[in-house]
Amino acid sequence: MGSFFSLTLIILSWVSLLSTEAEAEAEGIRSARLLDLLIRDNIVKSFDKHLKTGTVQTVNLPANFSGIKVETARFRCGSLHRYGAQVKEFYLGKGVNVQPCAERVMVVRQNLGSNWSSIYYANYNLSGYQLVSPVLGLLAYNAGTDVSSGTPFEVGILTRENNPIKINFSNVITNTTSSRRGIRPLCASFGGDGKVRLKNQVSHNVCVATRHGHFGLLIELPPSMPVRKRISRWKLAVGSSIGAALGAFLLGLLLVSMLVKVKKKARMEELERRAYEEEALQVSMVGHFRAPTASVTRTTPTIEHEYTPYPS
Ligand SMILES: *[C@@H]1O[C@H](CO)[C@@H](O)[C@H](O)[C@H]1NC(C)=O
Ligand SMILES: *[C@@H]1O[C@H](CO)[C@@H](O)[C@H](O)[C@H]1NC(C)=O
Ligand SMILES: *[C@@H]1O[C@H](CO)[C@@H](O)[C@H](O)[C@H]1NC(C)=O
Ligand SMILES: *[C@@H]1O[C@H](CO)[C@@H](O)[C@H](O)[C@H]1NC(C)=O
Ligand SMILES: *[C@@H]1O[C@H](CO)[C@@H](O)[C@H](O)[C@H]1NC(C)=O
Repeated sequence: MGSFFSLTLIILSWVSLLSTEAEAEAEGIRSARLLDLLIRDNIVKSFDKHLKTGTVQTVNLPANFSGIKVETARFRCGSLHRYGAQVKEFYLGKGVNVQPCAERVMVVRQNLGSNWSSIYYANYNLSGYQLVSPVLGLLAYNAGTDVSSGTPFEVGILTRENNPIKINFSNVITNTTSSRRGIRPLCASFGGDGKVRLKNQVSHNVCVATRHGHFGLLIELPPSMPVRKRISRWKLAVGSSIGAALGAFLLGLLLVSMLVKVKKKARMEELERRAYEEEALQVSMVGHFRAPTASVTRTTPTIEHEYTPYPS
């Protein structure tokens, strides 16, 4: 019984540990929009304004943005429109428009990594789908003459359907299990309106878009698999451990009652045996001495009765 209880306690504490770990990751920043703003603020803080235009610069973020990789590059709107550019996975073709654009633009590419990409499950309805790549963001901010003075505002990157932005996920795709099984992941575009738009890839791990935003590769989950996996998994763990504890408790009760029964039966048998022995002893003693006993036992009346016809 004791070991059952300690086992249950161990399981329960393990489950609660797991759930607090999950909560710790989930608490704090939950909004994808807020995360963009915090990343922007960190870019402004660390921006090297002496850097040549068009040079891609890696931004070092504080440790609590674990796993997020950010690159930025400054462009003149005119030259971006004339020549296009590549910023990591994003290929901006010639003719790309920045709106509005005074003079310079700061193009930001985010790779949210495995830890932070998961907040997109909370911000968008992805039920029935699983991300198989980190979420990649392409954003642009106005970069006037001095980025570090004043807050840069977001500007749009827009292209036409016949000249789209290409996103090459080949080097960032995290789960190749699906493609090995012949499933081609879908391109997801996470809109500022809170909606996810799905499209087919244009070539292996390559997606296209006509505007800035956040993008990822998704695969469809088999219908039986619920999407809110993390929550239901630990709910299941709690449920099953409570069930196991209850089961163990009931089993323990059953065992104890069985043990008590067996012990009781053994004691009854022992008592009966002793009673029989005592009775037998008494009878033999009575037989030996041929004298009525005064003790109050079940057999006394019979013995007395036996002796009444022959009073001494
Ligand atoms: C990281 O920490 C700083 C200061 O402690 C805070 O302002 C910022 O919001 C944190 N970022 C994240 C992503 O939690
Ligand atoms: C994810 O976050 C945990 C702590 O919250 C950290 O230890 C781990 O290194 C992070 N993973 C990546 C890929 O950065
Ligand atoms: C999420 O989208 C699915 C279809 O993809 C739909 O069936 C479901 O009702 C949506 N859930 C919410 C909460 O909007
Ligand atoms: C995407 O990137 C991979 C790896 O860098 C490369 O082999 C492939 O040719 C690229 N695809 C396109 C369409 O540029
Ligand atoms: C990769 O995707 C498959 C489904 O296609 C899934 O079963 C598996 O758990 C995923 N692996 C990782 C590491 O996410």
